[in-house]
Amino acid sequence: MAKRRVKVLDTTLRDGEQTPGVALAPEQKLEMARALDDLGVDIIEAGAAITSEGERQAIKLISNAGLDAEICSFVRALRSDVDAALACDVDSVHLVVPTSDIHLKHKLKKSRQEIKRISLDATRYALDHGLVVEFSAEDATRTDPTFLQEFLSAAAKEGAQRVCVCDTVGVLTPERANELFSKLTKIVKVPVAAHCHDDFGMGTANTIAAVKAGAQEVHVTVNGLGERGGNAALEEVVLALTHFHGIKTRIKLNKLYSISKLVERNTGLPVSPTKAVVGENAFAHEAGIHTHGVLAYPPTYEPISPEVVGQHRKIVFGKHVGTHAIENELKRMGLKPTKKQVQAIFEQVKQLGDRGKLVTDTELRVIVDAVMRRTLEEVVKLDELTVVSGNKVTPTASVRIKFEDKEVVESGVGVGPVDAAMDAIRKVIEGTSNIRLQAYHVDAISGGTDAMVDVVVKLTDGRRIVTARGTSGDIIMASVQAMLNGVNRLLWDRKLGGA
Ligand code: KIV
Ligand code: ZN
Repeated sequence: MAKRRVKVLDTTLRDGEQTPGVALAPEQKLEMARALDDLGVDIIEAGAAITSEGERQAIKLISNAGLDAEICSFVRALRSDVDAALACDVDSVHLVVPTSDIHLKHKLKKSRQEIKRISLDATRYALDHGLVVEFSAEDATRTDPTFLQEFLSAAAKEGAQRVCVCDTVGVLTPERANELFSKLTKIVKVPVAAHCHDDFGMGTANTIAAVKAGAQEVHVTVNGLGERGGNAALEEVVLALTHFHGIKTRIKLNKLYSISKLVERNTGLPVSPTKAVVGENAFAHEAGIHTHGVLAYPPTYEPISPEVVGQHRKIVFGKHVGTHAIENELKRMGLKPTKKQVQAIFEQVKQLGDRGKLVTDTELRVIVDAVMRRTLEEVVKLDELTVVSGNKVTPTASVRIKFEDKEVVESGVGVGPVDAAMDAIRKVIEGTSNIRLQAYHVDAISGGTDAMVDVVVKLTDGRRIVTARGTSGDIIMASVQAMLNGVNRLLWDRKLGGA
C-alpha cells in the first residue's frame, strides 16, 4: 500500500514572528522563505498582509520569488484584509475566525450565528477573487464541538478548499486530538489541518495524534517558535511522522539543522542546546560510558544517525569523559599517542572538567600539543588593540596584528565595541582565509561589574568547525582572544594538513 503523505504549512514567518521580541525585515523573510521552499514545505504562511507596509513588501517579495510552495497570507474575516492579501499577489489566504464562546463573548462580542455569517461572506469574497481559502477556527479546541462541526462544514460547503482546527492555547491532549480529528475528518468534506501550540509541551504529540486520526495537513514552525510556549516544531513533527509512523511529507530531512540555524540567526532567538533534533546537544555525548558505546556502535545512544537531519556527532570533553573518547579524537586528528600520553591528556581534561569547564576542541588541542610536545606557533598574534566607544560615537576599533611575518593594521566599526573589534580582526584575516564566525557566546563567570567573562566562539573555514575560548576581566579582550585562538587553530591545522 502506498504511504500516506501529509502537507506541511510552515507558519514561522507569521505565528513564529509573533514570538515576543521577534521582528523580521522583508529581506530576512525572503531569505527564510527561499530556505523553507528548498526544504520542501507545501505552504508558506508569509505573514499577515494587513499588518504594515513592511509586511506587505515582504509578502509581495515572497509571492513573486518564483517559489514552488503555495504562498499564503493570514487574514481575518474582513474584506479589507482579503484586499490587502490580494495586493501582495498571494496564492491563498488563511482565513481565521474565533469560534469559542470565550473569544466570541470577550473579544468579538458577537453571537455564533453572526460570526458564521461574517466568515462565510469573507470566504465567498476571497474565492470570488481567485484565492484558495484555508478556513481556520481559532480556539477550536475550546469550542462547542457541535458548533465547530457546523461552522467548518459550512465553510467547506461555501467553497473553502481546506479547514483548520486551532489548538490556540495548547489545551489538547493526544487522546482528545484523536477523538476530535477522527470525527471532523469524517464529517467535513475537505482536508482538515491541525494547528497546535505547545503550552503544555504537547504540541508535537497532539499534531501527530491529529494526523493519525485523519488530519491531512500540519501547521508548524521551525524551532517551535511562536507565542508563549510556541507552536509544534516542524523538525519534531516531520521526523516523528516519518520515523515512527511511515507518513511522508515533502520535507528534506537533511536540511532541518541548517534551516534551524538560519531561523536562529535571523530571529536572534537561540535554540536551546537540549532542543530535540536541532539542538547543539541533540547528538552530543560527554559521559565516558555513553561515548564508549556510541563510538563502538552509534545506535546505542543515538536513535537516528545525526546526518539524517543534517547534524553531526559531537564528542564533548568534560569531567565525564572516558579514555575511549580521547583516543578516538586523537585518531581522528591523525595522531598516534602512546598509552601514557593518552592517560596524561585524559587527566588534564578531567582536571578542567572538575573545575566546571567544558573543554573546547581548541583547548583539547593545546593539551594534546603540550603532552605530545607539538608546538603551536601563533600564526596570528595581537600586538595592539584600541577601542573607542561611548554615547554619540560610532564604536570603532583598530588592531595591529602580526600575521605570519607581516604586520597588519586594520580598523572596524560595529554596534558596540566588541562588534567593532571583531570587525577589525575579520578584515585582517579576510584576505588570506575564508574563516567565518558562526556563533558567539558570552558568560560572566562571577558576579559584579568586575566579573571574569568567558567567551566561546565557533569558527569555520568551510571545511572544519572549531570552538575556541577567551577568558578575561575585559569582555573585549576575551572576545578578541577567543577569536584569535580559533583562527590560529584553523590556520595551524591547515598548515599541518591535518584534521
Ligand atoms: O493559534 C492560533 O489560533 C492561530 C490562529 C490565529 C490561526 O495562530
Ligand atoms: Zn497559532
